[in-house]
Amino acid sequence: MTAIVFDNFSYAYEGAVKALDGIGLTVARSSFTVVAGPSGAGKTTLCLAACGVVPHYFGGSMAGRVQVAGIETAGSGMGELAAHVGTVLEDYESQLVTMTVAEEVAFALENRGEDHGRIGRRIGEVLTQVGLADMESREVGSLSGGQKQRLAIASALATRPGILVLDEPASALDPEGAEELYVLLAGLNRDYGMTIMVVEHELARVLAYADNMVVLADGRVACQGRPAEVLPRLAASEELAAMVPPLWRIKLGLEKQLETGFAPWRHEGEAVAELDGFIGARRREDTKSA
Ligand SMILES: Nc1ncnc2c1ncn2[C@@H]1O[C@H](COP(=O)(O)OP(=O)(O)OP(=O)(O)O)[C@@H](O)[C@H]1O
Ligand SMILES: [Mg+2]
Repeated sequence: MTAIVFDNFSYAYEGAVKALDGIGLTVARSSFTVVAGPSGAGKTTLCLAACGVVPHYFGGSMAGRVQVAGIETAGSGMGELAAHVGTVLEDYESQLVTMTVAEEVAFALENRGEDHGRIGRRIGEVLTQVGLADMESREVGSLSGGQKQRLAIASALATRPGILVLDEPASALDPEGAEELYVLLAGLNRDYGMTIMVVEHELARVLAYADNMVVLADGRVACQGRPAEVLPRLAASEELAAMVPPLWRIKLGLEKQLETGFAPWRHEGEAVAELDGFIGARRREDTKSA
C-alpha cells in the first residue's frame, strides 16, 4: 500500500521558477523516508505539497498530481487531508498558538468539533506517545526546545493521521535532542506503523532508522531507494558527495581499498562489529599462510 504518491508533479510559486519539476515518487505505507538535498532543492516545497498546503495556501501553478492515502490533495479540503497527514513545519514554534500543553493539543481537535470527553482522553494518549505525559498544565513558554518540538508532533498526531511529515525537525536541537527526536519518530514508525517522511540534511542522524531515501536536486528527484543503494550513488556524484555521512565515507573507502563489501552500516556499533570480525579473519589467514 502506498501512503504518498507524487505523479509527474511540478509546482512553481507565484512569479518564481519551478520549485518542483516532474517529481515521480512513491512513499510506501509504514516506511521511514528521509528527504535530503542541497539548499533550494525543493525539500520544503515537497513537504508542503504532501500535506496540501501547496497548492491550497499558495498561489502559483502546478501540473501532475499528489495523492495522500488515496486522496488527491488538490481536490480535497485541508480538514480531510489533516485526518491522514500530520505536519510539523520547519518553524514549528510558530505552529504553537496556545498557553498550555493540553490546550495546544486540544486546539487541533476542537477545530474538528470533537466532544470534550474524547478530547481529554486523546490529549493524554498523544502526550504519552511523544514522551510528555503529565505535562498537560505546563505553560508552552516554559518548555525546552526539544519539548516544544515534541508538542508540535503531539498536535500533528492529535487527529490520528497515518502519515507524519516533518521539515528539518532537528535543526534547532542539540545533538542529544536530535537523537531523542529520531528515537521517538522511529518508535512511532515501529510501534504504530506510522509513515514518516522527514527532511534531514544530516543523514548520519537517520541512518539507523530510514528505510527509504529521497535526494532532491534542482526540484527533481536525483536518486531514491534504500539508503544502502542511494549512498554509494551520492558518493559517486561530484555535486552530492558532501552529503554522504562520515561513517559511509569510511565504509565506501575501505570497501574499495580492501576489495570487499560490508553490510549497510546503520551506526558505529555495526561498523565496529563487522570490522572486528574482518580483521580477525584476516589475521587468521595471515597466521595460516605464515
Ligand atoms: N514562498 C516562496 N515564493 C517563491 N519562491 C519560493 C518560495 N519558497 C521557496 N521558493 C523557491 O522554491 C525553490 C525551492 O525552495 P524550498 O524551500 O522548497 O527548498 P529547500 O530544499 O527546502 O531549501 P532549504 O534547504 O534552504 O530549506 C527555491 O528556489 C526557493 O527559492
Ligand atoms: Mg527547506
